[in-house]
Amino acid sequence: MSTLESITQIVKNCGAIMLGADRRSLGIDEKAGPANFVTEYDKKIENILREELLSLLPDAGFIGEEGEQALFSDKGRFFIVDPIDGTTNFIKDYKQSCISVALIEDGEASIGVVYNPYSDEMFTAQKGQGAFCNGKEIRVSRQPLENGIVLFGTSPYYEELNEESFKKAFEYFKKALDIRRSGSAALDLCSIAAGRAELYFELRLSPWDFAAGALLVKEAGGRVTTVDGQEITYDKPCSVLASNGLG
Ligand code: IPD
Ligand code: CA
Ligand code: CA
Repeated sequence: MSTLESITQIVKNCGAIMLGADRRSLGIDEKAGPANFVTEYDKKIENILREELLSLLPDAGFIGEEGEQALFSDKGRFFIVDPIDGTTNFIKDYKQSCISVALIEDGEASIGVVYNPYSDEMFTAQKGQGAFCNGKEIRVSRQPLENGIVLFGTSPYYEELNEESFKKAFEYFKKALDIRRSGSAALDLCSIAAGRAELYFELRLSPWDFAAGALLVKEAGGRVTTVDGQEITYDKPCSVLASNGLG
């Protein structure tokens, strides 16, 4: 089995845990910032991912949203993992959440896997080898922004960015057909990769939110930078602008 196939299998099993969650006892806790929650399932899935991904590649570092994190470096291999992207959706049973796993090698994403267990969609990409959904190649849309849908995230945990986020969303709303807010940055990036929407932005994300999805977009022929056009890196939070490049 290839490394990608093994990661896909591990992630799929974690999706089954999300689907089978006992909704009467999610074990919800609050974290820093407004509306920032973690559940027992975020922690449980992260622990399984840590154990199984590291048994696959024992020399890799592990950076996950909910646990102890390795110190990122531009040398060597790192898994960057979001055990549940879209935790508020998960708590609400909104059915728009996913598991996101990226493998970074010498500072560059080499594998990206994002799984939405509700739609049973497995998004995968390997550097230089294209992007896929359930094994079928996907490409970004060829529609210009004026015929496009714009996705955005509200950076909900950073109150100071609320006003600017909505101002920008309004500007894009006027330029495009309409806007959407899904509640999962990784799934938004997959929607751009799959040509379901034309542009996505969010003013502050952490590497686990975007590491896998950004590779999907690039491998599907799209463009990903920070909002002011800088290259994204995996060492710190940043803004993200992803599009089909026709903006
Ligand atoms: C959040 C989701 C959301 C985005 C936030 C992220 P979480 O991740 O991706 O769509 O707007 O910025 O933090 O906390 O549910 O893993
Ligand atoms: Ca996230
Ligand atoms: Ca998360």
